[in-house]
Amino acid sequence: MSKQDSQFFNIFSLVLGILILIAILLFALARVVGKNTQSAHVLTDPKYLAEVESNLTTGRVAVAGRDNSALAIVPAAGAVVAELAIPTDGPGVYEQVCGACHLNGIGGAPKSSDRAAWAPRIAQGKDTLYKHAIEGYNGKQGVMPAKGGRVDLSDDLVKAAVDYMVAKAQ
Ligand code: HEC
Repeated sequence: MSKQDSQFFNIFSLVLGILILIAILLFALARVVGKNTQSAHVLTDPKYLAEVESNLTTGRVAVAGRDNSALAIVPAAGAVVAELAIPTDGPGVYEQVCGACHLNGIGGAPKSSDRAAWAPRIAQGKDTLYKHAIEGYNGKQGVMPAKGGRVDLSDDLVKAAVDYMVAKAQ
């Protein structure tokens, strides 16, 4: 290596070293600045927090013995909520609930117009029919869900629906 070459090499290495040092310093500076501004800002930004909150609600589960009131489903203001009207009499319950299965015999349900299917059931006595309709019943034909799946109905309403259905099948 000539003298000139080695001189150039030395200066070149020095410049390279200085550049690398500057890069490291800039990186460190960026970290320090970012720590005090960006992340702190994100953690207190109400929009960001609301976003996180709304993402969390999808995975929430009610826990027994804790305050679960935050899980209550609150319809948005002004939203039209299609409430499932609670029927008020036997025929109403039949139309809205029981008929789903009993009108056409879905899932093994005895058709409400099928006298032959109902005769042996009616022969069990009304009390048994009431009990099976209210508490649910696992028979040979299929599964009769408690209150036809509408557990919000009163026992009396379900009894009225049984009366209505039995009257149709007699
Ligand atoms: C998801 C379908 C379904 C709905 C909804 C439903 N049932 Fe049933 N129900 C059945 C099936 C299936 C059976 C027959 C069970 C068997 O005997 O295997 C049955 C049987 C019955 C019986 C005869 C029970 C017995 O002891 O033989 C009565 C009474 C009855 N349902 C009343 C009702 C009433 C009242 C409603 C509405 C509140 C209703 N069901 C809604 C499926 C349904």
